[in-house]
Amino acid sequence: MLRFAIAVACFVGLLTGEASAQGLPVPSTWTNQRGSQLTVFASGGGGSFSGQYVNQAVGFDCRGMPFDVVGQSNGGRVSFVVTWKNSFKSCNSIAVWRGTVSGNVMQTQWQLDYADLASGTIKVVRGTDTFQRVN
Ligand code: BTN
Repeated sequence: MLRFAIAVACFVGLLTGEASAQGLPVPSTWTNQRGSQLTVFASGGGGSFSGQYVNQAVGFDCRGMPFDVVGQSNGGRVSFVVTWKNSFKSCNSIAVWRGTVSGNVMQTQWQLDYADLASGTIKVVRGTDTFQRVN
């Protein structure tokens, strides 16, 4: 019976073309209240996933271009990291989001660590982002 249930689940997954990184649908696209977009397009083992993040938040740098994102999802819990460096730009910073996914809504708290070149110190900013699934 268990084998039958697994076979049916795989078949449905093939039909819909959607898998899951242990709770997070893959592929999926999410937009937050700042207009930034998270796209998840690959899942690895153990709930890990990768994708891209386009920051559109007013008051921040590194906007309007894709940066790699890696993350982890387990049940309803999710966390992901963006290092703000790509082939074109570096913001000398890294952001981590942690939160929960329920249906089409992802509630997160984030921390941004950045190098303050003027003072030569690492500064920390924290906030919250709510993502809605758009695709
Ligand atoms: C930087 O300015 O150093 C890099 C961009 C940081 C963007 C932050 S990360 C948390 C918050 N949520 C977003 O979608 N963008 C901002």
